[in-house]
Amino acid sequence: MAGEERFLDQKVLKIINDYLKKNDLPDTPVTKYLYPHEIREKIDLAISREGCSLDDLYKAIQDYLEASVRTGHKQYFNQLWSGFTLPGLLGDIFTSLTNTSMYTYEVAPAATLIERFLVEKMGSIVGFKKPEGIFVTGGSHGNLMAMMIARNNAFPDIKEEGHKADKTLTAFVSDQAHYSFDKAANILGIGSQNVIKVKTDSAGRMIPEELEKTVKHYQEQGKAPFFVGLTAGTTVKGAYDPCDEIAPLARKYRLWLHVDGSFGGSVILSPQHRRLMKGCEEANSLIWNPHKMMRLPLICSVFLVREEGNLRNTFSASGTEYIFHDHDFAAYDLGPLSMQCGRRVDAFKLWLSWKYYGDNGYAELMDKFFDLAAHAEDKVNSLDELELMAPRNSVTVCFRYLPRSTENINAFNLRLREELAKSGKSFVNYGYIDSEVTIRLVILNHETEKEDVDRFFDNVISTGRSIEK
Ligand SMILES: Cc1ncc(COP(=O)(O)O)c(C=O)c1O
Repeated sequence: MAGEERFLDQKVLKIINDYLKKNDLPDTPVTKYLYPHEIREKIDLAISREGCSLDDLYKAIQDYLEASVRTGHKQYFNQLWSGFTLPGLLGDIFTSLTNTSMYTYEVAPAATLIERFLVEKMGSIVGFKKPEGIFVTGGSHGNLMAMMIARNNAFPDIKEEGHKADKTLTAFVSDQAHYSFDKAANILGIGSQNVIKVKTDSAGRMIPEELEKTVKHYQEQGKAPFFVGLTAGTTVKGAYDPCDEIAPLARKYRLWLHVDGSFGGSVILSPQHRRLMKGCEEANSLIWNPHKMMRLPLICSVFLVREEGNLRNTFSASGTEYIFHDHDFAAYDLGPLSMQCGRRVDAFKLWLSWKYYGDNGYAELMDKFFDLAAHAEDKVNSLDELELMAPRNSVTVCFRYLPRSTENINAFNLRLREELAKSGKSFVNYGYIDSEVTIRLVILNHETEKEDVDRFFDNVISTGRSIEK
């Protein structure tokens, strides 16, 4: 490694700016929809004994960019995130430059204070009086931590002695909840079949009476209900469970109340739309992913707990003397609150971005997403070929194309979506509502404007018509 380069070339900045500029050019495909063999032809995957030159390295970077999906393109509507803010990108670059780990204040002093500041700020926005929290690897991680704290609070000996309970632990989520709750139950030895799916209304919100009925039913069966996970922004319909109506039930049945705001938690930043999160201040914990609606580069996800002490009680371990030392600023160490040991700094990019746009900037961004989604909903309603599949709750619009000539609407819509992606014109995902395929349009790019939404629907209609021919 003697000849290792240590400083950045101007070429690097040019590669980055050229890439970003190309996102805006009308002819740039959002995806090339490459098959694995095509990527193998484009990228030299081999690693030689001797290594390669810096020029070869730049070529490898260009090849990688060429073969990747342009997730910052204005026609990229495929996931619950799209693109990123420039301060967010800067944050990620300078995070790598300082290359530290979040376990101790000593090794990450500025990052620790920034993370603590953001936990405090986000916790107080949620309405938690004495919040604690930690940046995590995503919503799935947050849902797992919530279920684990709930389990350990219900059975305090479990941390050291393992499962001894004679009753089956039972958790409740809606039938629209993210699959990560099942995974959490699997990891925690609770078992995914003990995550009970509670019925939702047509908009996709958990029905409080159904929750109460279901909890009672399992209690009568001798099970031990311990956890209810609500969703603030469901993955397909973008629905918000009524936290204000469910919080009293959680208290009544002594259930840990967790809110999965991975996707939609950021709406709390908008005075206009925060009513969707009404009652979340009564939750015991909440997960919020700024890498989704706040447009931070992946990963940026914050797990918040209403009352201090829960994280340390659940996640601290013995045998840590080698890393957590007894010194003046030991109380600042975040490691004992985390499930991880080494942990990337994900707070800096969020802090930079929020500092730049301010609270108002983010409130406006949320409102813009809602306005664009309303515009998209109007478009669906105005086009004869399209059908709205569910009432719009937030920033996702679920619709399908109704073909004249074929009976299998599901197969048609699957084909339409794939043809659209292959054309490189627009990239959108699909899901299911009951057993019907729904195209799920998600608007989460702050550069997207009404014209881009209109262009998306032009692309959908022209692709649908060309298949119908
Ligand atoms: C409602 C909801 N919860 C949790 C998750 C999982 O989040 P992550 O991908 O950050 O693990 C998602 C992912 O889209 C989600 O939509």
